[in-house]
Amino acid sequence: MLDVEVIRKDFPILDQIVNDEPLVYLDNAATTQKPLAVLETINRYYENDNANVHRGVHTLAERATASYETARETIRKFINAGSTKEVLFTRGTTTSLNWVARFAEEVLTEGDQVLISVMEHHSNIIPWQEACRKTGAELVYVYLKDGSLDMDDLRVKLTDRVKFVSIAHASNVLGVVNPIKEITQMAHQVGAIMVVDGAQSTPHMKIDVQDLDVDFFAFSGHKMAGPTGIGVLYGKEKYLEQMSPVEFGGEMIDFVYEQSASWKELPWKFEAGTPNMAGAIGLAAAVDYLEKIGMDAIEAHEQGLIAYVYPKLQAIEGLTIYGSQDLAQRSGVIAFNLGDLHPHDLATALDYEGVAVRAGHHCAQPLLQYLDVPATARASFYIYNTKADCDKLVDALQKTKEFFNGTF
Ligand SMILES: Cc1ncc(COP(=O)(O)O)c(C=O)c1O
Repeated sequence: MLDVEVIRKDFPILDQIVNDEPLVYLDNAATTQKPLAVLETINRYYENDNANVHRGVHTLAERATASYETARETIRKFINAGSTKEVLFTRGTTTSLNWVARFAEEVLTEGDQVLISVMEHHSNIIPWQEACRKTGAELVYVYLKDGSLDMDDLRVKLTDRVKFVSIAHASNVLGVVNPIKEITQMAHQVGAIMVVDGAQSTPHMKIDVQDLDVDFFAFSGHKMAGPTGIGVLYGKEKYLEQMSPVEFGGEMIDFVYEQSASWKELPWKFEAGTPNMAGAIGLAAAVDYLEKIGMDAIEAHEQGLIAYVYPKLQAIEGLTIYGSQDLAQRSGVIAFNLGDLHPHDLATALDYEGVAVRAGHHCAQPLLQYLDVPATARASFYIYNTKADCDKLVDALQKTKEFFNGTF
């Protein structure tokens, strides 16, 4: 069991008044808050160890390099990658997925297909649109059934023409968690490479890339109590060896001649330029922090919050909730609309009550087109949220409804 009151003390940002109300932060799918352990680690790094990595022989450079590479090992263990060669630091999920799509451009030819789902974030759509446009491959979508991925549709579309399957582990709008292990087995049966957008799963549940057997897995530090500007691309060594670097310059080279160059070995051949050292070290501190709480405890806590708040939200007349009603399939994300109130107005009204939620298309416009709604509001939970936060959300929604004369 996770002790929320103890955890909340690690997040001083939560202890503030917004619009005369105590802040209830429910925008965690967009970005999470950072615990003192992360802030202090980054500070300590800059105060004591800051130097450029991999280049210097002086003491600070060696310390900074050791901390950066220890951070990589921390991430490797966290996702159970087989080797640190398979853990690339990137700017975040978006960069990670762009790199994989760039690899796909080397592999795809006309007539091939890339299979994604309609619930993907733009960062798992547009890189594939570009890869398909450049190669003549076709981008094919799997649609939904009862608010979840339609596995029958996936089975029908997963033919040997499909060379890449790229699916979100957890949706940032519907909140559903997709059966990645099963989909990966199916993808491998037709010889496709399996790519997973783990932006909304890695912060909330135990990830084991070897058990899932995925070929690529992407996630962002800032959604899991870590700093912004740092993320990870896990890739199986056999693919990363084949894959060309995406960026070129210092740090990633072995030798450079006037007309050509050779690359360092994995993982450094992908990390051109001075890396985000403080970011990587801060992300490792976030991982240590989450692991101390326990990923299973984190998942159970969020499931508990959803089980608590979902029926209360369902009971609000005029509130439409999107995604599967099967709570066993859901993570801590709930998208909703209140009557025909614009979600931006709804989010503003909730902000008057101190409740921070997101409103808009959530970078998932094809999904909203499919659902035939222009936008939604979205509440998303994390380790520091409480049942009292859930009650405040429900209460604020009721007040908003009354304010608009309950005309929904
Ligand atoms: C499911 C999903 N994928 C990808 C991303 C992109 O992450 P980032 O902006 O950190 O690159 C997000 C961010 O909201 C997301 O929710």
